[in-house]
Parts: sequence; C-alpha cells; structure tokens
Amino acid sequence: MDVTIPKDTILQGDCIEILKSLPENSIDLIFADPPYNMQTEGELLRTDGSQFSGVTDKWDKFQSLKEYDDFCKKWLSECRRVLKNDGAIWVIGSFQNVYRLGYIMQDLGFWILNDVIWSKPNAVPNFGGTRFQNSHETLLWCSKSKGSKYHFNYKTMKYLNGDKQMKSVWDIGICIGNERLKDENGDKVHSTQKPEKLLYNVILSSTEKGDFVLDPFFGTGTTGAIAKKLGRHFLGIEREDKYIKAAEKRIKNVQIESSNLVDNTLDEKPPRFSIKQLVELGYLYVGQKLFSKDKLLYAEITERGTVKTGNFESSIHKVSAKFLNRSNNNGWDYFWCEYNGRFVCIDSLRYLAKGGVK
Ligand SMILES: C[S@@+](CC[C@H](N)C(=O)[O-])C[C@H]1O[C@@H](n2cnc3c(N)ncnc32)[C@H](O)[C@@H]1O
Repeated sequence: MDVTIPKDTILQGDCIEILKSLPENSIDLIFADPPYNMQTEGELLRTDGSQFSGVTDKWDKFQSLKEYDDFCKKWLSECRRVLKNDGAIWVIGSFQNVYRLGYIMQDLGFWILNDVIWSKPNAVPNFGGTRFQNSHETLLWCSKSKGSKYHFNYKTMKYLNGDKQMKSVWDIGICIGNERLKDENGDKVHSTQKPEKLLYNVILSSTEKGDFVLDPFFGTGTTGAIAKKLGRHFLGIEREDKYIKAAEKRIKNVQIESSNLVDNTLDEKPPRFSIKQLVELGYLYVGQKLFSKDKLLYAEITERGTVKTGNFESSIHKVSAKFLNRSNNNGWDYFWCEYNGRFVCIDSLRYLAKGGVK
C-alpha cells in the first residue's frame, strides 16, 4: 500500500502509534527532543526564595528507568524504520537521559557521527550551590547505519563559523525574550522550548532544500518553524493541545528565508560530466592541449577521454598529480584550456555543459 506522508502539518497523538502509521524509508531527517525523565521532586527555589518553574510537567514523568528505557526503545525503533537508509537523526538530551539514549541508539544500529555540546552562556544557575551549574545539553547526531551516505553541508557550516571548520561545541543562549512563547497570562507556554538557532544549525547542516524533517516530540514547533524558514518540509507529532495551537500560530507567521545558505550553494556538488562527455558535447576536442594555469606544462586529450603527456596517459587527476609530484589531485581545478578565444579552467566547462550554454 502506498502511504503518503502528511506535509507541513502536526499530527496529534502518541508518537509511537503515529510513527507506526508512517511508511518506512521515507524521512530525510529526524530531530527528537524527548522527555528528559528529570526525576525532579519538590519545588525548585531561587536564592531569594521565589519559585523557579523548571521541567515538572506530567509528560516528563516515568515510573522507573526501565519504563523510560522501554519507551525510548519503542519510539527510536520506529524512527529508525521511517528514516531513509541515507537519512540521519539528531536526539537531544541532558545528563539525566542522554547516556541511556546513546546506549539504546547504538544497540538499534544507529551510527553516532558526533555528540554536539549545546553550551548555554545564560544557563539557569544551580540555586543551592550544591553542584556545578549545569550549562549544557548534548545532541547525538547519528546516521541510520554505519555505511549510510548521510548529508552534511560542511562548507555552509564553515562559512557560518567565520570560515573556520565548525566545532562540536555550539554556544547558543537558551530561549528568552521575544522568541519565548508566552500564554495570555504572560507565562511560558512550554518549559523546554528550544532556541531557534539550535534548530537552524541542525537543519541547515544536515538537509537539502525540500527535504522532509520529522519531529516526534514537537512541543511548540521550533523544528517546524525553522524547517519552513529554510524551505524544508516538516511533520510534527505532539500529544498536548495547547502546544499544538501555539506551534501552528507560530509557524504560520514564519517567512521563508531566501539566501545562498538556504540553497546550500556552497556545498553544491559540481555537475557530473567526464572529459569524454565534454568532447562528445563539443566543449573540448581530441588532441586539444590542456595546460597548467601558468602554461608551462600541458597534456593532450585522447579519444578515450584520458590525457597524455609524453608516454604517460591517464585521467586528468592522475596526470595533474604527476605534474605536481603528488599522489592525487583534482584535475578539474588544475587544467586550463582555450575556449571561445578565452583561457578558462576546464571546471567551468562542466557548468556550461550543465546549462547547455556554448
Ligand atoms: C522536550 S519537549 C519538546 C520541546 C520542543 N522541542 C520545543 O522546542 O518546543 C517534549 C514534548 O514531547 C511531548 N510528548 C511527550 N511524550 C509524547 C508522546 N509519547 N507522543 C507525542 N508527544 C509526546 C510533550 O508534550 C512535550 O511537548
């Protein structure tokens, strides 16, 4: 039976039951922010004696660690089933639950790619002074299996990090100010609303435009808001009516961002053309000389789509590596040629061929 997934919407109910109704191998990315099982008891007081509203919600209560583990095994198994083979999942947790989640995920066959630390510069203090201030949460980024060809927009993330490789520690403030959804009494709608910047990093780094992002613990819809902003599709699952209403209102007001980052142009793969195909299409010809940029070295194109210098015939990559005295090199960036009266890098011919431009 062909089951289509509802797009850009929220389904109300228990995530395990709803996940079971979704087709297997259909989702590109899952972000899951499950109950933490905080096991907090009694009220939490600030140093001035006023009450602090932490995570005391009914949805976070489990009778035992075993009950929590059983619940996690079920929803994680269903997530793995609906995930595409080359898909990935991000699961966020705190010290109370993240070790259990990681253990279960490895047992289910997920492959941990990174544990990203969400470091909170404005974390809630340890009011009693009895422990260190708990100022981070952990995100487990996992592919479906060890060999999955998961998606990673490396260059986009590097660009966002001032042209330095993005690290696995992210400094992002907890959700406050205008971003924090409030009810008619001015109280927080949700005790654990995640900051939009966190979801921005997650979705931008590991999806392409148009991909399908699923969040089985949707809450106030931070995942949906950012998926929409970045031109991705989403499906949220949530049990509580008040969170669903707040999420719907929030997502409706989100504008789609239009920028190179959203399109991940920095990470676009070059058009797939071989030298032989460029010859067949008339962008290059057999016998043509391909030069180093300084024109000091050259090789000639053969009818086999290889290039030849003296007695050495091989791919553009191997020949350019030989010129540079290296074991390998990207020949597309190395070789230049005459084209329509101009001296151009052969890489540009692949883009001309993609656009059908002569
Ligand atoms: C940690 S919160 C997620 C917060 C969300 N990331 C946000 O930014 O607003 C977990 C959410 O999962 C929901 N939830 C808990 N158990 C659930 C279940 N079995 N099925 C569906 N939703 C569930 C809770 O109501 C709660 O809103």
